Amino acid sequence: MGKVILSPSLLSCDFLHVYNDLKKLYDCNIKYLHLDVMDGHFVNNISFGIPVIDAISKVKKEFGFMLDTHLMISNPMKYLQKFIDAGSDMLSVHIESGDDPIECIKYIKSKGVEAGIVINPETDVQKIDNVLELCDFVLIMSVHPGFGGQKYIEDVNSKIEYVRDKKLGDKNFKICVDGGINLDNAMNVLKKGANYLVAGSSVFKGDIKKNIDGFYDIISKYEGENK
Ligand code: DX5
Ligand code: ZN
Repeated sequence: MGKVILSPSLLSCDFLHVYNDLKKLYDCNIKYLHLDVMDGHFVNNISFGIPVIDAISKVKKEFGFMLDTHLMISNPMKYLQKFIDAGSDMLSVHIESGDDPIECIKYIKSKGVEAGIVINPETDVQKIDNVLELCDFVLIMSVHPGFGGQKYIEDVNSKIEYVRDKKLGDKNFKICVDGGINLDNAMNVLKKGANYLVAGSSVFKGDIKKNIDGFYDIISKYEGENK
């Protein structure tokens, strides 16, 4: 198992002071940022899009971030290039998005960007079987997409184990879990097989440094036990 990654979801940041929050994340040694794009059609919410990601990518050099863009949009194919141009280093599309997932994944990879497939809580995990091998990562939704601050859905644990048991790409394949992850359940999510935790409200609510340190303690404990 490679190093575990903590990727804060910017959906829960202070949008009036994004730069300050990014600086705090950098000071806490965060390397990945999770960016939730919502179109008001694929999900019942609208978040932010290309210009915002473009702006965030301006501090990529200064802070050394990898941008992980999660597209909760219908028919993402026609927008992939725009999100790549905006500076995404990881780009994921939903298996439920309406476009051919294989075509999307191949396109993203052909541009040198890490490609991922996302699966909603109610979708059968077997549906991603033929796509997984092509991907650099999988993003398993542990809440219904659309909003931060929801409760972790325990039923998705079996999906994490299912993907873990496939041992895809050995150490480099990222098994990302997204939604409802906090200091109380993070250890369990890691034990099921995740190596990339997305966390929004549990990072940004309250003291960011204290929250991230809490996650790091759990991650080092887990890594210490699983060398
Ligand atoms: C949900 C998003 C998540 C969300 C996570 O639609 O994909 O990334 O922001 O937020 P929390 O950690 O608060 O559940
Ligand atoms: Zn997300």
